[in-house]
Amino acid sequence: MTHIDYKRRQFLQYATIGTIAATLPGFALAESQGFSKAPNSSFKADVEVALTAQTADVPILAGAHTHVFKYTGKLLKGPQSALKELPGYLGPILNFEQGQKVRIYFYNQLPEPCVTHWHGMHVPQVMDGHPMYAIYHGEQYVYEFEVKNPAGTNWYHSHTHELTATQVYQGLAGLITISNEAERKLNLPSGEFDLPLVIQDRSFTNGNQLRYMLNRHQRMRGFLGDTILVNGQENSIIPVKTRAYRLRILNGSNSRIYKLGWDDGTPVIAIGTDGGLLEKPETLPYIMLAPAERVELWVDFSGRKPGSDLMLQSLAYQGSTSPMGGGMGGGMRQGMGRMGMMDDASAQNEVISIAKFHITEKISDSPKLPAELIPMRRLTAQDISNPDKTVPIAIGMRHMTFQLNGRTFDMQDHTEIENIPVNSVQKIRIFHDTHGGMSRGGMRGSRGGMGMMMAMPHPIHLHGQQFQILSRTQTNQGYAYDTVKDGFINSGWKDTVLVMPGEEVEIIKPFKDFTGLFLYHCHNLEHEDMGMMRNFLIS
Ligand code: C2O
Ligand code: CU
Ligand code: CU
Repeated sequence: MTHIDYKRRQFLQYATIGTIAATLPGFALAESQGFSKAPNSSFKADVEVALTAQTADVPILAGAHTHVFKYTGKLLKGPQSALKELPGYLGPILNFEQGQKVRIYFYNQLPEPCVTHWHGMHVPQVMDGHPMYAIYHGEQYVYEFEVKNPAGTNWYHSHTHELTATQVYQGLAGLITISNEAERKLNLPSGEFDLPLVIQDRSFTNGNQLRYMLNRHQRMRGFLGDTILVNGQENSIIPVKTRAYRLRILNGSNSRIYKLGWDDGTPVIAIGTDGGLLEKPETLPYIMLAPAERVELWVDFSGRKPGSDLMLQSLAYQGSTSPMGGGMGGGMRQGMGRMGMMDDASAQNEVISIAKFHITEKISDSPKLPAELIPMRRLTAQDISNPDKTVPIAIGMRHMTFQLNGRTFDMQDHTEIENIPVNSVQKIRIFHDTHGGMSRGGMRGSRGGMGMMMAMPHPIHLHGQQFQILSRTQTNQGYAYDTVKDGFINSGWKDTVLVMPGEEVEIIKPFKDFTGLFLYHCHNLEHEDMGMMRNFLIS
């Protein structure tokens, strides 16, 4: 099957679902509840952006241009700095200020439906890019929201029903930065010393076209590409001066998990996570960064010799005992060079080059790493609204498909345990459902299926407000876990948490301000599109 055929099949599949869905009463209801086709005149926007999803041909590799899906942007109102176009296939970086009111006119010029989600942002249901609000070719959707989030790094991407993986893969993603007063007081590296790094793995045909073909087993594992792109470019070499930098790193990959570290063993200093800046910097040997997770690093090149290099790598790790032979590797065409494809099993032992920082110039002064960053109120048991009712997120598998809480995604479906009172704070327990049957009796996956499910890591993402991590419990102690266990940052605000095989994670999350349907799902995009997604109804 060719690439085009694949997309076409997906589209036809969607069209069928769309037609059925449109005749369901639930759908009509959602539509009347606020399909946002026109601007709301009482919403006084500080920033207005036109964002179009379209096909484009852009330079990614040397030689022929690559046919992609791309968000292109135009600033209609607000400060010039609010929008910054990037050369490759990524959408423009949107730079917002906390408290700003933002209006985004979204135009779909793609040959398939599309909807855009503002990942990490705390916005109302109709502005959140739920797949039920997908628009078709030629249509417009107006997103309006106030930026409630504090300073940090978020992102936006398509969230189209069963097409998220292929649309993001083809380019539909971009960064969002948020600034505020408290952050400015810290005098963190800014301007040319504040660098975005969106890390993605892709595969290309000999003609430089994106390749996305998965058999069923590969799809269950998730897409793993053989070429690393940083900000939409291959073999990234970033010129830097001998001083401190702030790196805003997003794992924008469909499935690949990175173990980020410096090639000379320099420890990694984190200053921020998904939801913003940390209370104080954390020093780790490496950082595990799963799809959709962000981490902000402080890196100081002071004292390094002009002409020398420091390489950001993804280090080798196990972390899994998958019977599929690896699960998390996948054979790299080595980023900075061109290696041959390796098989899955050896791939997990590979070190992957991500980006090379090349020291070009010696300068004399550099900001110092602040000892304290942003005060953060720790949520504790006292904050939980109903302490004896923990909300479960059970990761399970049935009929070779992934489920959450015993069910696969169904556009507006939510069960009793997925009803959350608005303005409450909930404790949520994310775990592997080894016994099956949250609500439907026994585990019916085959033993092989069960083994595979148990052996896979899942980055679980919750829409809406950021949460805090209360605890991680690992039952599969041992060599594999030892290769990843020192790379988790559990102290900051998060919207996505990597749940390793054998691991249970407890989080605490506020559900303030907005009622309606909000998604929670695995951010392995193949898993998400296979139905590993559910709704919370906040009411
Ligand atoms: Cu980044 Cu529901 O997604
Ligand atoms: Cu999200
Ligand atoms: Cu998953």
